[in-house]
Amino acid sequence: MEQGRVEKAHHIVVLADQGQGHINPMLQFSKRLASKGIKITVATTLSNAKSMKTTLSYSMITFESIYDDCSQGGVVGPGGFKGFLDRFQASGSTNLTRFILDHEHPVKCLVYDANIPWASKITTQLGIAGAAFFTQSCATAATYYPMYCEVYEKTPLSMPSFPVITGLPKLRFPNLPSLGCSTGRYPPIIIHILGQFDNFGKADWVLFNSFDKLEEEVVEWMKKVWNVVTIGPTLPSFYLDKRVENDNEYGFNIHKPNSSNCMEWLDSKKTGSVVYVSFGSAANLCAEQITELADALRQSNIMFLWVVKPDEQSKLPIDFSKETSGKGLVVTWCSQLEVLAHHAIGCFISHCGWNSTLEAISFGVPIVAMPQILDQIINAHFLEKVWSVGLIAKANEDEKGVTASEEIYRCIREVLEGERGREIRKNITSLKELAKEAIDTSGSSDKHIDEFISQLDPAYL
Ligand code: UDX
Repeated sequence: MEQGRVEKAHHIVVLADQGQGHINPMLQFSKRLASKGIKITVATTLSNAKSMKTTLSYSMITFESIYDDCSQGGVVGPGGFKGFLDRFQASGSTNLTRFILDHEHPVKCLVYDANIPWASKITTQLGIAGAAFFTQSCATAATYYPMYCEVYEKTPLSMPSFPVITGLPKLRFPNLPSLGCSTGRYPPIIIHILGQFDNFGKADWVLFNSFDKLEEEVVEWMKKVWNVVTIGPTLPSFYLDKRVENDNEYGFNIHKPNSSNCMEWLDSKKTGSVVYVSFGSAANLCAEQITELADALRQSNIMFLWVVKPDEQSKLPIDFSKETSGKGLVVTWCSQLEVLAHHAIGCFISHCGWNSTLEAISFGVPIVAMPQILDQIINAHFLEKVWSVGLIAKANEDEKGVTASEEIYRCIREVLEGERGREIRKNITSLKELAKEAIDTSGSSDKHIDEFISQLDPAYL
């Protein structure tokens, strides 16, 4: 990017939260804005900023550390998660305010992860525009909203009540055991997540990494209350047209990918013959679940590529990699976009994090859903019951909620070879087209991004 263009560009600060699943869409959205001539500063914690600096070289995007989580301790520092949130708020809000006030290039707008409770206070204090970015689906927001009203003792905004929305699963506390809500106890993480709605109310826009045709009815419903703007999937449309190769510029990785060998390995496999297994960054599978997965993969004749994160490796059965060499590959992390774009991948066993869900849809890869916590349960429900692009491998109904190897195996076979699998592949191919259409030039999400920019600068369009 030429220097002159950067000097003239509008300046938006993007405030990114901790966590792979939060940073990825914020960074992807930043790139999208940068590609439209906007100067972006990504404000985040020091550890995030350091990793992102090394993986990106866009001249329109710079990184600013507003909280030193390296020396002051991150989520594992004093006071655990709550201690981290308090320190991030104290340092982050002071440093971010100073940064915006002092910057030679006036900041037009703060786009903030809706998860960061203090962000909207800064936009109010400084009198700049604010956009809350919700990194999960619209349906998840709609599902959390009644809980927010209950926990924060708020009167629900007048809107049609939650269960009457066609298409939205009637998920209630018993369906969300990980929330701990059925016992009436609300752990700090839940209070924190639900607190996002305070930001919704104060924001000029509420951005969603989703697209209109994916969640049509829910989006329509939410628009009655908030200024909801769908801008996803945040993947660039050219990604969906071709195979993604040697991409060390695009993403952010909490672990170093050891995927160069896995791309070569995939190259030698037939189209649609490999099962990709990954549970994202946050879920930490218990030893029993890893054993069941290992049994399902070992007993079948299916090729697999399995991401077992460094802290889960010790839970793998002894000699598993040796025993399955030739038909399977275990890696500690990979470039998931490259993998999902590869023709050899026929099915994705996923925890159904929202990013993984959108990525699978965008690349047209059917899912075997094994949701673990929170919004993953809602996403899995949508994948199977609403969009019919995957199957849920049901967990045992005991406290541990492990999914048995037989059930995992049954779902893989059904998706790869069964009648239902054929229907699923057809449906996901259609959904992939809709995703691509939304982010292509003048597609619904692309138009929404242009409108967002033009509201900041009427001369833009
Ligand atoms: C979690 C939630 O489940 C998610 O829904 C929420 O919005 C944020 O927190 P996470 O567990 O990380 O996120 O899952 P997911 O949302 O799927 O994000 C994982 C990201 O990591 C994806 O973008 C995926 O492409 C990437 N990834 C994963 C890799 O690049 N390599 C891997 O090996 C595994």
